[in-house]
Amino acid sequence: MCGIVGYIGNKKATPVLINGLLSLEYRGYDSAGVAVLNPSNDNYILNIIKDKGRVKNLEANPELENLIGNVGIAHTRWATHGMPSKGNAHPHLDNSGKFAVVHNGIIENYLELKNKLQDNGYKLYSETDTEVIPNLIHMNYNGDILEAVSKTMKELKGSYAIEVISPLFPDKIVIAKKDSPLVVGIGKDENFIASDIPAVLAHTNNFYFMDEEEIAVVEKDKIKFYNLDLQEVHKDIKNIEWDAESSEKNGFEDYMLKEIYEQPQAIRETIGSRLSVDKQVELGLDEIDFSKFNKIYIVACGTAMHAGIAAKYALERFCKISTEVDMASEFRYRNPLVDEHTLCIFISQSGETADTIAALKLAKSAGATTISVVNVIGSSITRLSDYTIYTHAGPEIAVASTKAYTCQVTLLNILAINIAESLGYSSNELNQFKVDLLELPDKVKIALESAQEVKSFADKTCTQQDLYFIGRGLDYAVSMEGSLKLKEISYIHSEAYAAGELKHGPIALIENGVTVIGVATNPVTTEKTLSNLEEAITRGANVLVVTNQDIRNDKIGMLLHIPETHPYLSPIISVVPLQLFAYYIAKAKKLDVDKPRNLAKSVTVE
Ligand code: F6R
Repeated sequence: MCGIVGYIGNKKATPVLINGLLSLEYRGYDSAGVAVLNPSNDNYILNIIKDKGRVKNLEANPELENLIGNVGIAHTRWATHGMPSKGNAHPHLDNSGKFAVVHNGIIENYLELKNKLQDNGYKLYSETDTEVIPNLIHMNYNGDILEAVSKTMKELKGSYAIEVISPLFPDKIVIAKKDSPLVVGIGKDENFIASDIPAVLAHTNNFYFMDEEEIAVVEKDKIKFYNLDLQEVHKDIKNIEWDAESSEKNGFEDYMLKEIYEQPQAIRETIGSRLSVDKQVELGLDEIDFSKFNKIYIVACGTAMHAGIAAKYALERFCKISTEVDMASEFRYRNPLVDEHTLCIFISQSGETADTIAALKLAKSAGATTISVVNVIGSSITRLSDYTIYTHAGPEIAVASTKAYTCQVTLLNILAINIAESLGYSSNELNQFKVDLLELPDKVKIALESAQEVKSFADKTCTQQDLYFIGRGLDYAVSMEGSLKLKEISYIHSEAYAAGELKHGPIALIENGVTVIGVATNPVTTEKTLSNLEEAITRGANVLVVTNQDIRNDKIGMLLHIPETHPYLSPIISVVPLQLFAYYIAKAKKLDVDKPRNLAKSVTVE
């Protein structure tokens, strides 16, 4: 969480930094700041401007005009230690005023370090964990900034991506990383630093990815990397194909709506050349001997975990391997039975989720084979996993995940076919499943046509306090995702229940006027779900049903028809009206859809 940008070159740094921050606001948006080295006679002066609130507040500050230097760092914050305030906003300075630092992550031993600094006469002014870093750098500085940063890193426990600038080395930005992402974008006579690629995509497609416990010295025409012991490290440049335009709104009112509408194309890209009807699936996993696995764990958080639940069915049925889905934050603390006969699949849009990373490390240390399904190229999870298969959803900017989910479910189902084929299984059902997968982009496009109907239902429902989503099997899996989306961006309380569970307790909550959304796409369970919905209607519920079945029931308030597909793929289509529903409710409530309160896009703290 929190966003970092840095610039060193011949241009004025401030506009590059502010634009970078604007495109990074999905990472945190409760305060923002910049530090720029301004030339003054033969010297440089460190100027800092920061404030509470969004980047546009900072952008409107007339004093920004005075930041004319060519070297700068910037930050947009998602508060962990200390409330959002000007004093807690980054950049932070050391007591001498010589070192400015921005930091993503959490310094777990900051209280201990604070005591040490105070014992040495330092004063700390903010409530943040970050402020110890510039002061430690100052304490460790003997004229060599690399040495000071590496000494400081050895004292820090926790996670960090940091940038340091100082008038003492005005032609350098020194950066360091552990458990929090940081990339260096390569330009001509200029270089860029960012916590996330989209922040600097407008300037370059060539990147270095920082590895764990690495330091880099970035100059306008030179970049050098070092390990903690200050030995130089060689790195390869990675070319990222995303273009800056795909990180912009392109005429849509919000990123979330744009990303919802991008789903047909994103799914098409994710399928790519990996799947065709008459060939075996190709995911680059040929060297894995899948016959050695007797257990699959799918581990992820939030929406990515919901994608895992949606994929479990195909993995169990086609591969005949028992599959369990775990929340990453729970997995690592429950002593899961993992060994060399276990395949662990991790799912993450950002590739930086701290809980998922911790679970991945645990699985690896227990001897499991790890495959990760990730969207952001080169992210931490991809570098830690034995194998990575990428979703090709393109940059997802809105905090609420939409296209990443549908691409994850698509790719996981392709993975299920891949494993089944490697194990020698084939069937007419599997062949038909491939055909159904290939038809998904067009069917998702048709599901998008429900937008106006969904909007009219949302407009009537937006004053509700509580809402329920029900379904059975995969319709329940998608209900969980619909409910999460609604909570996240509309702040309406909602719950998802397996439809059959309603009568075992939650039905006590149904009273006149309560909205219940039913998902009924599986011919085997649709009638049962409809009976459960009838029970709710009898108690006064107002019901919307998303279905691909021929349902005739005039007690249902609204029926939304979506295209039919294999039941295991139906979440990829049925989630679309649920995403739109959450979106239009939030719009009706005039909320900031892309930046919901208290949330951030990459959750890099545990
Ligand atoms: C929901 C949402 C979150 C993420 C979760 C995992 O809309 O975005 O629930 O799905 O934080 O994030 P990634 O996929 O980046 O690991």
